[in-house]
Amino acid sequence: MKIQTPPGMRDFYPDDMRLQNWLFTHWRQVSLTHGFEEYEAPIFEFLDLYRLKSGDEIVSEVFSFEDRGGRNFAIRPEMTPSLARMVAARANALPRPIKWFSLPRMCRAERPQRGRLREFFQWNADVLGPEDALADAEVIAVVVAFLRAVGLGPDDVAVRVNHRRVAAAALQTLGVPADGVVAAFGLIDKIERMPADKFAAAWNDLPFASACGVDAVRGFLGEATLERCLDLAAQSGEDGAAQAEQFTQLWRQLEAFGVAGMCTFDLRIVRGLAYYTGSVFEAHPKQGGLRALCGGGRYDDLTGLLDGPRVPGVGFGMGDVPVLEFLRELDRLPSPERTLDAFVIDADADLFARALELVGHLRAAGLRVDFSYKRTGVGKQFKQATQRGARHAIVLGDELKDRNEVVIKDLVSGTQRTIDWDAFCADPKLD
Ligand code: HAM
Repeated sequence: MKIQTPPGMRDFYPDDMRLQNWLFTHWRQVSLTHGFEEYEAPIFEFLDLYRLKSGDEIVSEVFSFEDRGGRNFAIRPEMTPSLARMVAARANALPRPIKWFSLPRMCRAERPQRGRLREFFQWNADVLGPEDALADAEVIAVVVAFLRAVGLGPDDVAVRVNHRRVAAAALQTLGVPADGVVAAFGLIDKIERMPADKFAAAWNDLPFASACGVDAVRGFLGEATLERCLDLAAQSGEDGAAQAEQFTQLWRQLEAFGVAGMCTFDLRIVRGLAYYTGSVFEAHPKQGGLRALCGGGRYDDLTGLLDGPRVPGVGFGMGDVPVLEFLRELDRLPSPERTLDAFVIDADADLFARALELVGHLRAAGLRVDFSYKRTGVGKQFKQATQRGARHAIVLGDELKDRNEVVIKDLVSGTQRTIDWDAFCADPKLD
């Protein structure tokens, strides 16, 4: 019986892994250059962690199982609840600000589609501690730095930014009651993915639909400017004014970080996860209809919900699948080659033991080195060296027998030189 890869899961052959590693190198590099430290968490957690913290939508998408002791676990569908759990457990001991990143593998039992699979890697970068909009701006600056690093600019991607409490205040002026805002957000989050008639039907089912009709909300979402929403929030009371001020600060800081050119205000970005309390954002391709490349926002109450002290946080998650898919569509995906520093060739089978000895010296010096398993002609070994992407070929032949020397050939420039065996083994430099 032939067993296939499970639906929505991927095999990573070495060609695929080189691409993954290219992406991971950028993710890691951008995180480190922005002062973030790496962390990890378990691949599965108690199901309750997601049940209580992420909201119904995510829980309906978890792969869960019961262990022999009858406890319910879930393979992580996202990282933020684990991060909040870890921070809550050591909240008083951790120096602030907590700037952490991770590159976890995760699973969601969703329908596999373009840019969304059942297993994926998701880069997370979060700042916990400060409530200042500076932190919100810095995590958005991290997203933009990555996009730029892989060659994506303002013509390709828009980082669409909103603020849940500013949006809530604006919606309330349209007639959405305070206790209806979460339900309204739940639908607005899907507005771009839902056919118009389905959205209208779902909106009309909301208990407050008579106070705020679907046309009013659609019109408002399409037209309301940042200034108008800030005004509405500021007029809605003390808290609204404070939130409007925070959001204004965020735009100022985005300017200061030099990333505002990639960002636009968008009232439709409200995010599906339950824990966001302030700014929310998503990076969207400008063409091609692919879903969000990343999403994030501020969550100030999550550690408190986990019975820890309140540690405000803000961050984002970015999936490998949509990013690679988008770069592929734009024909901007690199194809990282196989690489070796050197391939050791024996021109005479009698010299094979010396070849292995040299391989050992070079590997011990940290060089990436390989050789042929078959004792074949020099030509075939050179061919293998090229196929393996070797930068140099080191040939053990008559020069070694006659003068104790090896030949080093640069396979890119074609130049070659000879070097004394003992000197080379003592200090193996290839260039
Ligand atoms: P999320 O919007 O559920 O947020 O996911 C963030 C990103 O993860 C998406 O924009 C997408 O790039 C990627 N992603 C999600 N689901 C899939 C999938 N099935 N296949 C491939 N990629 C996927 C969160 O997960 C939040 N915890 C992010 C966050 C971190 N908020 C604050 N800190």
